[in-house]
Amino acid sequence: MKKVGIIGVGEYLPKKVLTNADLEKMVDTSDEWITTRTGIKERRIAAKHEATSELALKAAEEALKDAGIKPLDLGLIIVATITPDMQFPSTAAFVQAKLGAKNAAAFDISAACAGFVYALVTAQQFIARGCYKNVLVVGAEVLSTVTDWEDRNTCVLFGDGAGAAVLGEVKSGGFLSTYLGCDGTYTEILNLPGGGSRNPASHKTLESRMHYMKMCGNELFKLAVKIMADAAEKALEKAGLSCDDITCLIPHQANIRIILAVAKRLGLPEDKIYLNIEKYGNISSASTATALCEAVREGRIRKGDIVLLDAFGAGLVWGACVIKW
Ligand code: ACO
Repeated sequence: MKKVGIIGVGEYLPKKVLTNADLEKMVDTSDEWITTRTGIKERRIAAKHEATSELALKAAEEALKDAGIKPLDLGLIIVATITPDMQFPSTAAFVQAKLGAKNAAAFDISAACAGFVYALVTAQQFIARGCYKNVLVVGAEVLSTVTDWEDRNTCVLFGDGAGAAVLGEVKSGGFLSTYLGCDGTYTEILNLPGGGSRNPASHKTLESRMHYMKMCGNELFKLAVKIMADAAEKALEKAGLSCDDITCLIPHQANIRIILAVAKRLGLPEDKIYLNIEKYGNISSASTATALCEAVREGRIRKGDIVLLDAFGAGLVWGACVIKW
């Protein structure tokens, strides 16, 4: 098996900023409530012409530049998203065409907020087994299109954006362990019920707002803390490491209180956690992707460091991986 690592990172955040003050004018909420309950101050909103593949493309171009490779060098493109451009074809196919990555196969992964970790783990297998030399992984979302802007329980939480990573063979370090999980008995507590084969789009699904995300926040909160802590411990155990070995935790950015509770359970000091939730809110699959990119760019992750990615999302699904940079 070949050693596999992340050889380039990139991100793209839409220009438009929606602040908590803006939301105060839209629903019955306050900056104080949102900040203390979630840690979010503002989020980005894609322009009308920006579909998920456009965000993904810009993040991908940066990651390819960072890796020093050309689109034609890619053997595979995986896009993690729950807000694809269309039901089909895959968003990865749009990205492949826009990049001109003619030699690449392409597919999407639907694993909600754990999508980027699921996609990284999938990509890593292909390279480790010698199927592909370079794989592009993108987490990209335009969640503003599936957010009910009249529902204060959810609309304050989400935003749009994309993050990308190029994976390739490395001489040392790279992925030390990976761990993925799912409990499909929880599909009811976070979903988008309308528009699929169960509830095909109709006047009725639109009138009952079934084309927007539905969430039981309270229940998710408790599950998230336990699941993320367990996933981190499993990945560390598989790598033969402990929390003391971790330089930087890149957690899914759903709620600052979830993240701090996970860190407390793990016994990980707060200064080892990378956070960008304040600026972007929850961008689902793009949360860990943008956080990883920014942590690298800001020098929070350097050569030789041990990085732990840890995410959970609708499904419920979860995933963690330990990477030596
Ligand atoms: N502004 C003001 N008040 C609000 C708002 C708001 N935006 N939203 C809810 N409230 C009210 C509620 O109506 C409730 O009022 P009540 O007591 O009169 O009924 C009160 O605030 C408390 O509500 P809770 O739901 O108990 O608040 P909680 O502290 O649990 O915070 C939150 C809610 C932020 C949603 C939290 O539960 C959470 O973060 N959950 C996890 C979310 C998550 O991780 N999602 C999964 C990832 S997303 C994905 O996979 C796509």
